[in-house]
Amino acid sequence: MALVDLHLAKLAGLVLAALAVFHILTRIHLASKRRALAREKGCLPPPLYPQPEQIFGWSLFRQNMRSLKQRKFLESSANRFREMGVNTYQLVALGRRLYTTIEPENLKTIQAVDFKKWGLGERRKISFRPLLGDGIFTTDGAAWQHSREMLRPNFVRSQIGDLQTFERHIQHLIAEVPRDGSMVDLSVLFFRLTMDSATEFLFGESTESLTKRSSEGFAESFMRAQDYIAHNSRWGRLAALFPANKQFAYDQKLVHDFVDYYVQKGLARRSELLANKSTAEKSGRYVFLDELVRQTTDPIQIRSELLNILLAGRDTTASLLTNVWYMLSKRPDIWQKLQQEVSTLNGELPTFEQLKDLKYLKALLNESLRLHPVVPGNSREALEDTTLPLGGGPDGRSPLFVKKGDVMSWSVYTMHRRKDYYGQDAEEFKPERWLDDPTTGRKGLRTDWHYLPFNGGARICLGQQFALTEASYTTIRLCQAFSGIESRDAEPWQESLALTCVNYGGAKVVLTAVDA
Ligand code: HEM
Ligand SMILES: *[C@@H]1O[C@H](CO)[C@@H](O)[C@H](O)[C@H]1NC(C)=O
Ligand SMILES: *[C@@H]1O[C@H](CO)[C@@H](O)[C@H](O)[C@H]1NC(C)=O
Repeated sequence: MALVDLHLAKLAGLVLAALAVFHILTRIHLASKRRALAREKGCLPPPLYPQPEQIFGWSLFRQNMRSLKQRKFLESSANRFREMGVNTYQLVALGRRLYTTIEPENLKTIQAVDFKKWGLGERRKISFRPLLGDGIFTTDGAAWQHSREMLRPNFVRSQIGDLQTFERHIQHLIAEVPRDGSMVDLSVLFFRLTMDSATEFLFGESTESLTKRSSEGFAESFMRAQDYIAHNSRWGRLAALFPANKQFAYDQKLVHDFVDYYVQKGLARRSELLANKSTAEKSGRYVFLDELVRQTTDPIQIRSELLNILLAGRDTTASLLTNVWYMLSKRPDIWQKLQQEVSTLNGELPTFEQLKDLKYLKALLNESLRLHPVVPGNSREALEDTTLPLGGGPDGRSPLFVKKGDVMSWSVYTMHRRKDYYGQDAEEFKPERWLDDPTTGRKGLRTDWHYLPFNGGARICLGQQFALTEASYTTIRLCQAFSGIESRDAEPWQESLALTCVNYGGAKVVLTAVDA
């Protein structure tokens, strides 16, 4: 017996040794393959952010959590780029090697040229899935492509902009603004407005939160659940260690039940929808759910896509409006110019074409999204070994090798303040920079990969036109209803950062009615 055991032990030892050798050889092979790729492209190692401990990067994580609390997260990441004196560097975040960049050429490579080599990373997928399910915002690869192909035509068709339906919600918003000189936080109204209009557009029925409070349960649960997943996604894989959250479980169920009610109603009218090719044209109202029901009968998929779009589209637009109206309350010069432009409409409701012709308004929205981007940062994970055109070497001018599994994050906020792209006055809020100046002949700013409020390339925001139409229309209608604005907020703009970024103080103002 003992002899057999000895033989077995020897055999096992041999197998293990062979496995170890094989493993080492594969590693050596992989490492030499990587070196060859890096050499071929002329890659150099990137500058390293000095961290006292390079295993978990604990101190930087704590510093980030602290600046988040002080509402200075964006400013402190901009300062780190300044301290480093480069546009790309490497750091350790929660035990992972991470790069961060503000280099337009790198972003073009990630989002467009080498788009297939980069994925969302498990962070977003793991933390968002319980609330949103699998949809355009939470998937990669074939699943994402399927979602994008299914959703895109609906965005194109809806682009005529259902301004009439929207006007109804605006009327509700205007009615909520006090006329007795008391203060209103427009931010609260903007978040209700975008909830009401988004639910009407997506489900065919509005939450009507501006007129009645009945649907506040849904809005509140959605908001709370969204903040919870935003918080979780910061902790990455460590979030799995948190105990189950009862409040989240409650909110998740409430949100799902709320949407499922509309999905069932939509599925029940499917045969009618299929017989009637264009309900949208007939009723003059475009319902996203109806278009999805035409394409699939899977209730979970429909629910997921609706929630993905609600998440992508609602807070973003409300945040943009809040940031814009905060600025209008602080800058009488901008308010004057905007009022002047809006007055060319002679008090009439603007058409879709007229909206696009208001150049100063467009420049104002562009400038708001430049200095206060509502999606101020983002990241992608390398799905294979690859290289980026810039970021290597002490000056960051050489290509950079990135290993499969490494994460590249970027700061839109910081890139939008680069003086080499926007000039010495890059930190100033100046809508005029976007306009041609006929007196000096200076050309207005042209956008390129250094201006990315909506991302670019294959995953560029599907709702860009929708959001700009909604923000423009709302701003014009408020300008037509109110001739005066005063700020009731002494504070400067401060970040409030969850999934999107908005002024912490909202937009606290007193408005004077035109007919007052
Ligand atoms: C000011 C308003 C908005 C801003 C700044 C904004 C910004 C963005 C950004 C930066 C992304 C890329 C996210 C990523 O890939 O990591 C994105 C994606 C997306 N946005 Fe928007 N968005 C806005 C409004 C909207 C609206 C109103 C809708 C829909 C009604 C919408 C629908 C989407 C969708 C579906 C995606 C996912 C596209 C994809 O992954 O293929 N967005 N948006
Ligand atoms: C088509 O739509 C109209 C009104 O939207 C409706 O009355 C009718 O029943 C629908 N179905 C068919 C088959 O026409
Ligand atoms: C504003 O930015 C968009 C890109 O988002 C660009 O197409 C447009 O030319 C800019 N225009 C003005 C007037 O600001």
